[in-house]
Amino acid sequence: MGVDSTDLNHQNECLSWMNEGGCYVGKRFGNPILQINLVWKLLGYQKRIEQLCAMGHDYVRKILERKKMSNKDEVADSSNNKNYLSNLIKLTEEEGKWTDKEMMEEIQTMVATGSDTTAITLSFATIMLAMHQVVQEKLYKEMCDIFGNTDRDPTLDYLTRMDYLERVIKETMRLFPVGPLLLRQVQEDIKIRDIVIPQGSELFIPVHFIHRNPIHWPDPLKFDPDRFLPEEINKRPRYSFMPFSIPPRNCIGMSFAMTSMKVSLSNIIRNFRVISTQHKSVESIKLRINVVLGSVDGYGVTLKPRKK
Ligand code: HEM
Repeated sequence: MGVDSTDLNHQNECLSWMNEGGCYVGKRFGNPILQINLVWKLLGYQKRIEQLCAMGHDYVRKILERKKMSNKDEVADSSNNKNYLSNLIKLTEEEGKWTDKEMMEEIQTMVATGSDTTAITLSFATIMLAMHQVVQEKLYKEMCDIFGNTDRDPTLDYLTRMDYLERVIKETMRLFPVGPLLLRQVQEDIKIRDIVIPQGSELFIPVHFIHRNPIHWPDPLKFDPDRFLPEEINKRPRYSFMPFSIPPRNCIGMSFAMTSMKVSLSNIIRNFRVISTQHKSVESIKLRINVVLGSVDGYGVTLKPRKK
């Protein structure tokens, strides 16, 4: 968004508000009693969620105000189309295409969807690398082949050459898709064998289970990035892997997310060896759903600087 928010009050609290809110929504997902609005209200969840939303709203408003103040020139410069937030301000204030409320909602959606998703995936990836040293060394070798002995930053050209890293990230998202359940409303009757799912039903798409289905993923709990070699991908149905959901309503941040995860993970692997984690195996990682998937026991790993 082009705003330095590090000195804004509540930077860290904002993350814990999102976690707390996500935790209540996750509880409601899994508990039919909590889906009764009266129970939800009587137990105080409704009120707390409203408080959390108001605090998040306030935080986003501060980001917006800062952007408007510090970047007046940039906003006025119509040739600058690159900054997301500047574009939103332009659409709302200059072109009148959006209301203030719509703009705020867009920013909130981006803050909510664009932070924990990549952070959690990267955390799972480091746990996997700690558990699978052979994979990690192969990845390090790819980094050495690309960067040699230099400290250069990863350019887009370098990133496109990180094939093995891409496979590591995809295999991580197969086992730990941050969006483990997708929700859809059925638009017309769907017949699957003898069963008809009637129009208007609400449907959960269990991405987590699809990604661990042994029909498409032999030995599903084995962490094996080579499942994503082109010849292996061709053997599977297209929708056996959908960490970013599938069109028409899929993740709009997909390319950005892959790029940012490649930058982060390549920097970690070039500079550190991930030597251990408290988790012993994929099976032993206890998972929870707070809207997004996460590890119950955290993501502890030990990093050791690599000798240069
Ligand atoms: C590992 C990273 C990420 C994963 C696995 C992921 C996954 C997903 C999934 C599964 C959905 C679709 C939900 C559905 O179909 O109901 C989604 C939607 C969305 N994602 Fe991501 N996401 C990631 C990162 C990001 C980032 C970095 C951004 C923004 C910068 C972002 C922005 C969005 C937005 C705005 C939507 C809502 C799109 C809509 O409702 O039309 N995501 N994401």
